[in-house]
Amino acid sequence: MALGIAVLYNTDFEHIAGAASVDAVAVRNAAEAVRDALIAAGHRAELVGMWGKDVPEVMARLDRERPDLVFNLCESLGGIARNEIAVPALLDLLGLAYTGGDAMALGLALYKPRTKDVLIGRGVSTPPYRVVATVADAERFAASGLDYPWFIKLANEDASVGITEANVARDAAGLVQRCRELLTEFGEPLLLERYVDGREVNVTLLGSGDDVVVLPLHEIDFAAMPAGRPHIVSYAAKWDEAHVDYAGTKPVPLRSADPGLAERVIATARAAWDAVGLRDYGRVDLRIDAAGTPWVIDVNPNCDISPDAGVHRAAIAYGWDYPRLIAGIAELAHRRARGPRA
Ligand SMILES: Nc1ncnc2c1ncn2[C@@H]1O[C@H](COP(=O)(O)OP(=O)(O)O)[C@@H](O)[C@H]1O
Ligand SMILES: [Mg+2]
Repeated sequence: MALGIAVLYNTDFEHIAGAASVDAVAVRNAAEAVRDALIAAGHRAELVGMWGKDVPEVMARLDRERPDLVFNLCESLGGIARNEIAVPALLDLLGLAYTGGDAMALGLALYKPRTKDVLIGRGVSTPPYRVVATVADAERFAASGLDYPWFIKLANEDASVGITEANVARDAAGLVQRCRELLTEFGEPLLLERYVDGREVNVTLLGSGDDVVVLPLHEIDFAAMPAGRPHIVSYAAKWDEAHVDYAGTKPVPLRSADPGLAERVIATARAAWDAVGLRDYGRVDLRIDAAGTPWVIDVNPNCDISPDAGVHRAAIAYGWDYPRLIAGIAELAHRRARGPRA
């Protein structure tokens, strides 16, 4: 059945940095790719931009037009990522069906320490952690007899913001020094996590309830990383094609020697998906320690589904082209939304 779909995306960067800015262009291109894929798959789809103060008008328009589905690509409003939580809440208020996580799941995933509390509470393996809000906190923690290395990240960011090789702290002095730099630069709390030295696996999941499909697993190939550089996906690895970390972090299909490994990874990713309340589509990142135990480091509802993202790579490995993936997500969401409320 052909659906009438509103592809809702954030235009806040156009207002803040201009329509030609890198962020605005990336967000718009991603939204256009989704719209074009839906049309290619036989649906009717139209872009609807929303930036912040226009929320009342856009919601009134959606309420008037009542599309069969809203494809929710809003990652921020008014330039602030936290505001993405408002979008599914408002769509729920209007009784409109939409793709991806509800306000609770998006809110939980935005705050990595809380995500970890839920994972730990559900018995899903995730590295031990500590939140550090001041340099004095970092000094106290560093003096508490830690087993190094530890990994430092911003508590409430994604896309590897703030991550360089210096975030792998190998001793107390390195930990305090990097915490001081990040606290000064970003002014937000830090999440310190036991460093898991080993393979990094990305798991893409599609579906809802008991009906969840795990797409072919991928891992990061660190073979081209210069000797001595830690095997992590830094900010430069994600965003700077000219950087050594970019070539040194190549996503490839999982090469598993141990047949049990993929099963353990899938079971752990699936448990994380359930714990955080993901639905329709999402990605879970894990690191595998020397004993072969997977540790969840990142849970991403409404993850990047643009044509060059890992989700598309996993879909291709599954035999799906881009329109099939995007229409598949839309159809899943539409079916879920018409079923009994979770
Ligand atoms: N505990 C950890 N041990 C080892 N590497 C880690 C750990 N946590 C994060 N990393 C590295 O940092 C990268 C980014 O961290 P992640 O938690 O996935 O945050 P983001 O939301 O920015 O993707 C990961 O892809 C991984 O390479
Ligand atoms: Mg990640």
